[in-house]
Amino acid sequence: MNITLRVWRQRNSDDTGQMQTYQVTDVSPDMSFLEMLDVLNENLTISGEDPIAFDSDCREGICGMCGLVINGLAHGPKERVTTCQLHMRSFSDGDVIDVEPWRAEPFTVIKDLIVDRGAFDRIIQAGGFITAPTGTAPDAHAAPVPKVDADAAFDAATCIGCGACVAACPNGSASLFVAAKVTHLGLLPQGQPERHSRALDMVAQADLEGFGGCTQIGECTAACPKGIQIDLISRLNRDVLGALAHRG
Ligand code: SF4
Ligand code: FES
Repeated sequence: MNITLRVWRQRNSDDTGQMQTYQVTDVSPDMSFLEMLDVLNENLTISGEDPIAFDSDCREGICGMCGLVINGLAHGPKERVTTCQLHMRSFSDGDVIDVEPWRAEPFTVIKDLIVDRGAFDRIIQAGGFITAPTGTAPDAHAAPVPKVDADAAFDAATCIGCGACVAACPNGSASLFVAAKVTHLGLLPQGQPERHSRALDMVAQADLEGFGGCTQIGECTAACPKGIQIDLISRLNRDVLGALAHRG
């Protein structure tokens, strides 16, 4: 396959940035999108040009590092697939593909396709802990959890913090991410002591970081590679309202 890529190039946070066109030839349909970028970068390096900066780590869909906007879609055209798990067979010979970084005010572009997602870490720090005793592993069933709650908590915990929900949201809202983090602890007995303060603190930190509000448009859940459901945002709102009522 021969592909034309139009890639966002930006030297640093102060640079205005621009799209730049590259030809990539002999692309195997079995390459991942990131492997295709690796090939392009190798050619750029050999010809003395600055390779394109992009993030990746696990390349297995579990670390959340590899977010790119591909043809206007967070993580590209396939549902529930991270950029690192997207294969070139999803495109056709001769395609022109636009590649851009996440665009949201709290996600500052550091270089080219790399953005600073430290705001997510600070949201987790604001409320993502429990005071339940830790130490050696407790006996199985020491704290019984109904299967339905354990399954729902696990589903929420599959959020990899990639930020696609923010990138897809017209409001730049982080509500789906916050809802996933609040829910996976809020459904378990160990998460109950801080349930109220966690919801309030994480939402407050998201506001502080500059993420927008949720108007239930649903682009977040459509873009989420882990299928986090939008009803978790309603659950988050209930926890916040409960926390405010509790506080009086
Ligand atoms: S909710 Fe989905 S899209 Fe948002 S950070 Fe988590 S995994 Fe990524
Ligand atoms: S590189 Fe880890 S999820 Fe894509």
